[in-house]
Amino acid sequence: MSAHDAERMAGLLEREGYAPTDSEAGADLVVINTCSVRERAEEKLFTRLGELEATRTADQPRQVVAVTGCVAQQEGERIRRRSRVVDVVVGTQALRQLPELAARAASRPNSRKPLVDVHPYEDVSFPLGNVRRGDPVKAYVTIIEGCNDFCSYCVVPYTRGHERMRPAADILAEVGEAVASGRREVHLLGQIVNHYQAPDQPGCGFADLVRQVAEVDGLLRLRFASPHPRHVSQDLIRAYAEVPQIARHLHLPVQSGSTRVLETMRRRHTREEYLALVDRVRAAVPDVALSTDMIVGFPGETAEDFEQTLSLVARVRFHSMFSFKYSPRPNTLARKRYADDVSEGEKARRIVALQDLQREIQRDIFERLVGTTVEVLVDGPSRRRPDELAGRTSQNTVVNFAGEPAWVGRLAHVLVERAGPNSLAGRVVDVEAGVPAHAG
Ligand code: 5AD
Ligand code: SF4
Repeated sequence: MSAHDAERMAGLLEREGYAPTDSEAGADLVVINTCSVRERAEEKLFTRLGELEATRTADQPRQVVAVTGCVAQQEGERIRRRSRVVDVVVGTQALRQLPELAARAASRPNSRKPLVDVHPYEDVSFPLGNVRRGDPVKAYVTIIEGCNDFCSYCVVPYTRGHERMRPAADILAEVGEAVASGRREVHLLGQIVNHYQAPDQPGCGFADLVRQVAEVDGLLRLRFASPHPRHVSQDLIRAYAEVPQIARHLHLPVQSGSTRVLETMRRRHTREEYLALVDRVRAAVPDVALSTDMIVGFPGETAEDFEQTLSLVARVRFHSMFSFKYSPRPNTLARKRYADDVSEGEKARRIVALQDLQREIQRDIFERLVGTTVEVLVDGPSRRRPDELAGRTSQNTVVNFAGEPAWVGRLAHVLVERAGPNSLAGRVVDVEAGVPAHAG
């Protein structure tokens, strides 16, 4: 979501005549877009600002520094107390104000007071054609902003405001535009993406929207993030079975394997309900890959609760997992009500045990793929070996292989030769031909 906000801000700035640069030295404007979902993410902002302050030279008096996103929303003017370099603070719901505030700040260098806009604007429209998409193959499209769920650990409802749905017509227009510009994969975004109800189409829920998006001519693959287990409808499960464009991957954050902890987290489902959902999804879509988010060391999490998390992971066998040590976040119920009582050492021990188990499961899943041929959509240069290419399978597994830059955006069949801890490697058997050129 934050990465996509950055694409939107870059697009708006470009419309005003700004162009991206590789180096912040000499830049007229530096925008730091921030995340505050965990404490570590928030701390990064202040590290970056410290670096900027140290490198900013006297001959750059007109450089404007803007802080945007969730930390901006949360801290507002207070950011200036921790860093003198900040000229502009723009909250999550005000990003359309960035160009104007940046221009005003540029006309009054060295001002003591930052220009701040953290107003919770309700408007979720975004002018079509103004996203500066950073990826030639995939396009992010927001369908819901904000969240009303108030899971007890989560800062998002405070930083991104209450839930607002975008009209289906706007979403379809943006998907159409993204596909027309050469993007073949679309990611629908929302804090609880599957809570979608179209404000402009009575009765159109998330599964209906997915079906409509899948019909956009030229769209090859459709993904979405993140669904909430409580809102995975039979209708959505049916859509997986019926709509081939939906990638065979479902990210299903569970956060804990213990019903007791889930209750204090306010997730509003039990361990058993989650496992039953997994069974239902797998029965209908046997080739679906599941992934999840986990928090360890939530207040009150006992050794037994944590054992439940391990046993859930062993039972579900996720294709991948993001795991985090709990950190108390501002305003949240967990911070107000519960002491952060699992020691740092114990959190560290638990996350290592969880990641060890996940690594073992992943290795087993990946090793079984060696010798098979998988279909990937070619993403671009491989992260670890830039002379190679990387792509993803429909299940969202990364595959690395040798190939030509012109293959980016095409489907390729890859014979899997090796399995690594987080990706596969192999040799291309054939590549799709005749894909329209990217419009950039
Ligand atoms: N502490 C640790 N992890 C958190 N997450 C959200 N809030 C916290 C927190 N306070 C994790 C959840 C969520 C992911 C985006 O970040 O697992 O799904
Ligand atoms: Fe945060 Fe819960 Fe909303 Fe997800 S559903 S954004 S975890 S409050």
